[in-house]
Amino acid sequence: MFETRVLSGMRPTGSLHLGHYHGVLKNWIRLQAEYPCLFFVADWHALTTDYEKPADVQQTGLDMVIDWLAAGVDPSQATLFVQSQVLEHAELHLLLSMITPLGWLERVPTYKDQQEKLADKDLSTYGFLGYPLLQAADILIYRARYVPVGEDQVPHLEFAREVARRFNHLYGREPGFEDKAKAAVKKLGSKKARLLNELRTKFLESGDAAALARGQALLDEQQNLSRGDRERMYGWLEGGGRKILVEPEALLTEASRMPGLDGQKMSKSYGNTIALREEPESVSKKIKTMPTDPARVKRTDRGNPEKCPVWELHKVYSDAERREWVVKGCTTAGIGCLECKQPVIDAINRELAPIRARAQTYVDDPALAKNIVADGCDKARKLAQETMRDVREALGLAYP
Ligand code: TRP
Ligand code: SF4
Repeated sequence: MFETRVLSGMRPTGSLHLGHYHGVLKNWIRLQAEYPCLFFVADWHALTTDYEKPADVQQTGLDMVIDWLAAGVDPSQATLFVQSQVLEHAELHLLLSMITPLGWLERVPTYKDQQEKLADKDLSTYGFLGYPLLQAADILIYRARYVPVGEDQVPHLEFAREVARRFNHLYGREPGFEDKAKAAVKKLGSKKARLLNELRTKFLESGDAAALARGQALLDEQQNLSRGDRERMYGWLEGGGRKILVEPEALLTEASRMPGLDGQKMSKSYGNTIALREEPESVSKKIKTMPTDPARVKRTDRGNPEKCPVWELHKVYSDAERREWVVKGCTTAGIGCLECKQPVIDAINRELAPIRARAQTYVDDPALAKNIVADGCDKARKLAQETMRDVREALGLAYP
């Protein structure tokens, strides 16, 4: 019914590392070619946990956007913006808070988990409890269909779906809904109207999902429908009310577990990262000082790649032939560890060279990135305002 939009957000963390690149950004870059995408800096979200000592989110947010751009996120394909610069998110969050049962928020698994994990912070705040609702507002305000996120965010997506459903249920049933929906169907012309009626009956009487999909496709093909009529017919097809908000789906990307320098998952909190803007000498030094199979003390000791974090990096960066060279050389003590590490150093530096160069152009001229974000904010705001018009109308808040 609406454009198939993709939306995702990231907390402002400053410069990103290879884990972000392989786990998130490569996926965004793939998606931006396929769908209209919106990517944003979730700066309000940072305050839900770091309210005592706010980081310089303007700088860390900008650094993060520079790394998005450097990695290949393309502002001519995707809209890049900052959450706090689109105030409509806050308005929708407030309005949704009216209909969100407290129990739903308390039951989101990350609520208790994070409170325990971040025990040094007092997270018994209203903002922290409401964080999944703020995230729901982020998504619903753009009527985003797909949200690429990691496994840990799936409960938040499910929560956003429930909020959307509840909203549509409460406010999609305007007075005279059935009549308005039927009038809209009539406007399609008698042939299409008859077909749509048949498909609806098939779906409602026998749960025929294919019939529903055909009905939706038929509506998608209609060009000159008003938004209201479109929402009504969509809801009517399913036997419900108007679909004002869209239920989003998580786009789970297979968790690319980019290994860090110590074999654990690469993460800032483990201090085992390689930054996207890491200098070649520093990459080399970090890899050269990586731990290896502890059994290989001397060059003549045989090793076992399965016990070595360097091997995990070969799995990411080396082809079959190279990997065979590693396994053979390691298990026979035919190669030394430094020799084994060199191809990894070269591969990472080859990967980072163009990223580092692009980042430099934005570092040299920060106005470039700032302008991209300003344009993105304007575009995002327009889309958010469209949704808010419908939302306000549904709540009786459409002041002239
Ligand atoms: N909660 C997400 C995280 O911590 C960030 C986020 C905020 C987000 N709003 C979003 C992600 C909306 C996707 C969609 O990683
Ligand atoms: Fe690890 Fe390679 Fe050394 Fe074997 S040779 S222990 S795989 S670094």
